[in-house]
Amino acid sequence: MLCLGIETSCDETAVALCDDGRPVLEKLASQAGLHALYGGVVPELASREHLRRMGPLLDALFAESGLTLAQVDAVAVARGPGLLGSLLVGLAVAKGLCLATGKPLIGVDHLQAHLMAAAIGREVAYPALGLLISGGHTQIVRLDSALSMTVLGRTIDDAAGEAFDKAAKSLNLPYPGGIYVDRLGQGVEPDRRLFPRPYLDNDHLDFSFSGLKTAVATFVAAHPELRTQAMPDAEAALEPQAWPMAIRVVCASLNFAIAETLRVKLQRALDNQPGPVVSLLAAGGVAANGPIRAMLADLAGRNRLPLYLPQPALCADNATMIAATGCLLARAGLVHDLTLSPIPRGRRIPWDYHSVAPMARGSVDSRSVPQ
Ligand code: KG4
Ligand code: ZN
Repeated sequence: MLCLGIETSCDETAVALCDDGRPVLEKLASQAGLHALYGGVVPELASREHLRRMGPLLDALFAESGLTLAQVDAVAVARGPGLLGSLLVGLAVAKGLCLATGKPLIGVDHLQAHLMAAAIGREVAYPALGLLISGGHTQIVRLDSALSMTVLGRTIDDAAGEAFDKAAKSLNLPYPGGIYVDRLGQGVEPDRRLFPRPYLDNDHLDFSFSGLKTAVATFVAAHPELRTQAMPDAEAALEPQAWPMAIRVVCASLNFAIAETLRVKLQRALDNQPGPVVSLLAAGGVAANGPIRAMLADLAGRNRLPLYLPQPALCADNATMIAATGCLLARAGLVHDLTLSPIPRGRRIPWDYHSVAPMARGSVDSRSVPQ
């Protein structure tokens, strides 16, 4: 079963094909350079860029894969949460394709898709505990199956990615700053007392990262020499050796504070589950962070659980995760009709699928399809 995935929920325009859940090809255009000029995503510009780039990306996807739209069995699209204008572009394209071809339309929860990126190419054992850490969300979820997710804890203010990005902004590092904080901290011993591990002195699984952002900003204000004089170009900024050790210690200490905060809440979640949890999953842009990946490996080892992490390229927003989740939904016979609506950030994604006959497995290679 061949599924086309479309992702436009924030500032990456992406299309991808998955065949029975296996990635075939992805074409992705990042808008990061454009939004970096403004220090954050400008929603209006993001929508326009999605519209401008979508057509050429689809053309390239089919030309380079050697597959055709006629061979696609279902069209999956990220329906939220995300920027409303950006989501509307993806939904309009997906509906247009379905209207023209009669293929089924499947709206995908962007957050569920992030977690399913960890399951691509693997037989994940359930129930699993999942950690979703991105620029917009920080959640601990319980997955009783690939399609059944319960949120156990979430951030009450900033997401982990925002803490990285805003701290990086205090240091005048390029936007989005998470990857720079990760790289500059590499190989440096953190100062464990420099920053707080926020919101741990409670008995629940929610997070609060806004205080950490303020702690970094306050520290940098007291040590103005830490602020880089001019915003270095993005490539040069990724070279750790080029940076003063004092800045690298701040980055290592921030990586440590966030990784430790996540570790404490994840262990608490594991300890408090009513029934057994048999694996650990983590996903989202921040799951590419070196110290966080190391912490997760250590936590999984101590709890004797297998750990499933997406490849770094599938941690950030991408369309392969949308197409792979589309395959799971199609196999369960769960589809939408052309009234599918986008869901903006902050609103719950409804489970409003229609049930149809489950779509059969079967690789596109093994079928003869008219061209
Ligand atoms: O999942 P994602 O691409 O987009 C959202 O759905 O939000 O996540 C983007 C976030 C940004 O905050 C970015 O700075 C952060 O992921 N990020 C990282 C790393 N790579 C990306 N944070 C820490 N370490 C990294 N290596
Ligand atoms: Zn995302």
